[in-house]
Amino acid sequence: MSGRSARFPLGAKVTFEALADDPYPIFRELRRAEPVTWAPELGMWMLTRRDDIVAVLADWERFTTDSPESTIRDIFGSHMLTTDGDEQIRYKRRFIGPFRRGRLEENLLGTVRGVLDDLMGELDGEARGDGGRADLRARIARPLSVRSICRVLGLPDGDGPRLLAWYDHFAAALENFAGDPAVRATGKKAAGEFRDYVTPFLRGDLEVPDGSMIAALRSEEDPYRPGHHVARSGGDPLSETEMVANLLLVLFGGIETTESMIGNAFWAVLSHPEVAERLAAETSGGTRADGGLLSGVIEESMRWEPAVQSCMRWATRDVEIRGVPVARGEIVHCMLGAANRDPAHFADPDRFDPERPNARDHLAFGAGRHFCLGASLARIEAEQALTRVFGGLPGLRLDPDRPARPFGHEFRTPPTVWVRWGRPRPDRRLLPA
Ligand code: HEM
Repeated sequence: MSGRSARFPLGAKVTFEALADDPYPIFRELRRAEPVTWAPELGMWMLTRRDDIVAVLADWERFTTDSPESTIRDIFGSHMLTTDGDEQIRYKRRFIGPFRRGRLEENLLGTVRGVLDDLMGELDGEARGDGGRADLRARIARPLSVRSICRVLGLPDGDGPRLLAWYDHFAAALENFAGDPAVRATGKKAAGEFRDYVTPFLRGDLEVPDGSMIAALRSEEDPYRPGHHVARSGGDPLSETEMVANLLLVLFGGIETTESMIGNAFWAVLSHPEVAERLAAETSGGTRADGGLLSGVIEESMRWEPAVQSCMRWATRDVEIRGVPVARGEIVHCMLGAANRDPAHFADPDRFDPERPNARDHLAFGAGRHFCLGASLARIEAEQALTRVFGGLPGLRLDPDRPARPFGHEFRTPPTVWVRWGRPRPDRRLLPA
């Protein structure tokens, strides 16, 4: 056993497989006995106490996202999640407007409702006399997240399948920590194809709706450098390369995350039937009263089972965390799922309690300057999806024939959420012969 592993015996036992299966007992032990630990299988430091994680995420000068080792920078180019300081602010500032809650409610609420009308209509159409069954992840969460982010950006709804095909290549390339050159090449090729696809929208050769992200960014030719395009108005303009890299992040950062988050919310509620019943009563008919259970359900499900389990930072210099020396260039893994169940902040943290007063203190969207750009959009989509699904499908329950539960160490979510609704089938054993 190496010196570090001897010093951190619990960390030495952490495996990807065990984290993917059920990280919470591991986090509990680490938080108690080795809150700053070295995990040799991950090749990283791991933090599990909420206070330490908040402090690291707030300290971008000592713990940065800007590293040549970052796969997301390698594939997408330089963007807000791979820069810090002034550069990150320059990028993020250009994207914030269309993602503000007020702007989204103005520009997107109708779209989200319309998409849900269509998706719910399809489910209704398939239901039989005694009810229906469906995988809510595939039938509601996935199409809703793709169509919504396309709308915010201003891209046509019909391009969703094309974007999803690129997404698969990106997902593989971003997880390519072993550096397989073929996987990297496919990721880079997909990024090139996306650039060719989106450039005509950015240059104004293809139309985008007013109020969309691309309309705000839309480029025009730089009068001093013919052939080069710059952002149209205000502030320090972004080059076309910078716009494309940030659009890649925003577009592909908003698909699987939101799908998983909504999938987790469905699963969390449905695995607590008493909460499902209350939510169904509150949302019956597909509308809801303000101040009810819905917002608590969403925040608590993000605390209890966050879809993104960690944020990675590189130490910019030799530092100490709780007296443990971390060398310059080493990676610190901030475990969000562990922070969200820290008993120092959340009472009885393993319990799913939609009335928890401080559920919103969760770190599911990260913290500090890299706090999620899409948090309001994801919340709006989840609110609308839960309202329509619980209010519109009476007797909704998990399908016992196709069980699934959250899984994964980086993204954590059930692969499917199969449900049934309508009248429960009579149990034949109880019927008179
Ligand atoms: C509508 C969809 C979403 C979009 C467009 C989006 C986009 C982004 C972007 C652009 C960033 C980087 C911000 C920056 O560097 O300043 C970010 C950060 C982050 N997002 Fe999202 N996101 C979405 C949904 C979600 C969801 C549903 C989750 C999890 C429940 C999530 C978790 C995070 C986390 C943890 C970070 C911080 C990463 C870090 O600090 O290392 N996002 N998001």
